[in-house]
Amino acid sequence: MISSSPSAVRAGHVELRNLTVAYRGAAALRDFGIAAEPGQFICFLGPSGCGKSTALNAIAGFVPPTSGEVLVDGAPIRGPGADRGVVFQHYSLFPWKTALANIAFGLRMRGIGSAEARRAAYEWIDRVGLSGFADRYPHTLSGGMQQRVAIARALINRPSVLLMDEPFGALDAQARALMQELLLDLWRDVGATIFFVTHDVDEAIYLADRVIVFSAAPGRVILDLPIDLPRPRPPDISASGPFNAAKLQCLELIRREGRRIFDLSESAA
Ligand SMILES: Nc1ncnc2c1ncn2[C@@H]1O[C@H](COP(=O)(O)OP(=O)(O)O)[C@@H](O)[C@H]1O
Ligand SMILES: [Mg+2]
Repeated sequence: MISSSPSAVRAGHVELRNLTVAYRGAAALRDFGIAAEPGQFICFLGPSGCGKSTALNAIAGFVPPTSGEVLVDGAPIRGPGADRGVVFQHYSLFPWKTALANIAFGLRMRGIGSAEARRAAYEWIDRVGLSGFADRYPHTLSGGMQQRVAIARALINRPSVLLMDEPFGALDAQARALMQELLLDLWRDVGATIFFVTHDVDEAIYLADRVIVFSAAPGRVILDLPIDLPRPRPPDISASGPFNAAKLQCLELIRREGRRIFDLSESAA
């Protein structure tokens, strides 16, 4: 029997409907539309400047729609909220707080007492593999460790949606691969809907249930590609035929859009 009680409905449905965002009259996104099911892992892929961060920031509630709508679980968003966690490329940790205090911060802001917040933060320190680093300050941690703190800080609030803007973009290849695996493990546990921005095609395909390729600005969806590779995905899945077929399809479109930008800038010069 299908229950109709609201508590049985899984949260994390996100819909961008005819979304246009313009900055001082210049559109960064135009009539952008996608809908994500609760718990889906969606990667935004496209050339620099095509509006990926703008789309993410619109879901976060940092950027208002110029027209169109962003709906989370059917309700238009009005601004940032604890239901949507955010992780940026550049470490957004408080430098004067320890790893533990950074992670506990979100809970403290929501009025949870310090003992309970610390206990929960210790649990997250372990979950992101930072046992023994609780009392370290961010500048004494590697880039990958700092991003683990940022992820823990976002997930401790149990958001139904996690928004990640090139979170591993500044990491070396080894650290990046480890972080990708850790993120997939955490996602399997927490079940949030994830929107993950990257310009790395391999990263997008390795992580995603769906890869959304953006056109050159103003961004539109030019490909919505389901990635049906089985999970868990071993790191060497990138050598498989289906992986490479998806990769070629994305690369061809990105190259085409990149060329469009190049040609436009050449003809304007
Ligand atoms: N706050 C802003 N004010 C003015 N223009 C912006 C702002 N943020 C982004 N833009 C412009 O919007 C376009 C899309 O930017 P962005 O969403 O950051 O793209 P991406 O993340 O794909 O690189 C770019 O032309 C960028 O210069
Ligand atoms: Mg960006």
